[in-house]
Amino acid sequence: MQKIILDVDTGIDDALAILYAMGDEQAEVIGITTTYGNIDLNEATQNTLDILQLINTADIPVYKGSLHSLSDEKYIRREVTSRIHGKNGIGDIQIEISAYKPEKETAVDYLIEAALKYGKELKIVCVGPLTNLAHAYKKNPEAFLQIEEIVIMGGALTVPGNVTSFAEANIIEDAVAAKTIFESNLPLKIVGLDVTMRTILTQKETEEWWKYNTNHSQAIAEMTDYYFKSYKEQLGFDGCALHDPLAVGIALYPELAETLAIDLTVELKGPAKGRTIGNYEKLNQKNPSTEVCIQIDHTKFLSFFMEAIEKVLN
Ligand code: BDR
Ligand code: CA
Repeated sequence: MQKIILDVDTGIDDALAILYAMGDEQAEVIGITTTYGNIDLNEATQNTLDILQLINTADIPVYKGSLHSLSDEKYIRREVTSRIHGKNGIGDIQIEISAYKPEKETAVDYLIEAALKYGKELKIVCVGPLTNLAHAYKKNPEAFLQIEEIVIMGGALTVPGNVTSFAEANIIEDAVAAKTIFESNLPLKIVGLDVTMRTILTQKETEEWWKYNTNHSQAIAEMTDYYFKSYKEQLGFDGCALHDPLAVGIALYPELAETLAIDLTVELKGPAKGRTIGNYEKLNQKNPSTEVCIQIDHTKFLSFFMEAIEKVLN
């Protein structure tokens, strides 16, 4: 089993990533840290607690993280994100509000503590803006050099962005944090739009979910239907990209992805703000610390994903 911490801005695909991680027997989720992004921090934290309670896994500790980006320039995408993820971030489904509360310890301190405690046994999977990780890294860089890997859903190297032609959402939301992390020597695996836009879930797959006929299966199917509707309206697309679940999948099954070893940086200014691109300064350095996923066995991942979700829905 792989120990993982999920860093989420719970949104619909973040919720699907949590559900997937709970259902895959290779995953041992030791904690979840939350951040602003698809929705404000408080709502992202509440959504996380509510999703965990919905599937009776409320014993997983949740740690509240950052309210805003490092530069606090308040890059606001909320109008867009609410069209994609709904006003409440989880497709406007109404589920029971969890009585559980987040832990007292902050996400930043928890990330440092867990990195020091688990070292090589630990992978951190970040599927929101990189603010929590950047704060934690700045506070204790050594701690994160010890861990096995940081898997990041973010960026686009070989395809255009999804917020601008250059920038992907999690990166542009806090480009300074992303640059801090990308230019570090931490062991990074980047799961960007290069592979997530090839990993599409369709209504054909989720038809089965409705049939379970339990409260939680109906809620999850309804939430995912909202995501299908958003993709159709915003992109004219049949199906939705499994951005955040794929990052979990690659953390658990690295063999699913073909990677390119190249150190990256992030543009901070101009029309290309938020772009993830090769770092000239490190171009000739041996042994890059970053691997970018450029191809994916999406069929295999989809079968893992469906199996895990069905287990959770049953
Ligand atoms: C990323 O942005 C968010 O909207 C999703 O949850 C995902 O993490 C995709 O660009
Ligand atoms: Ca996310």
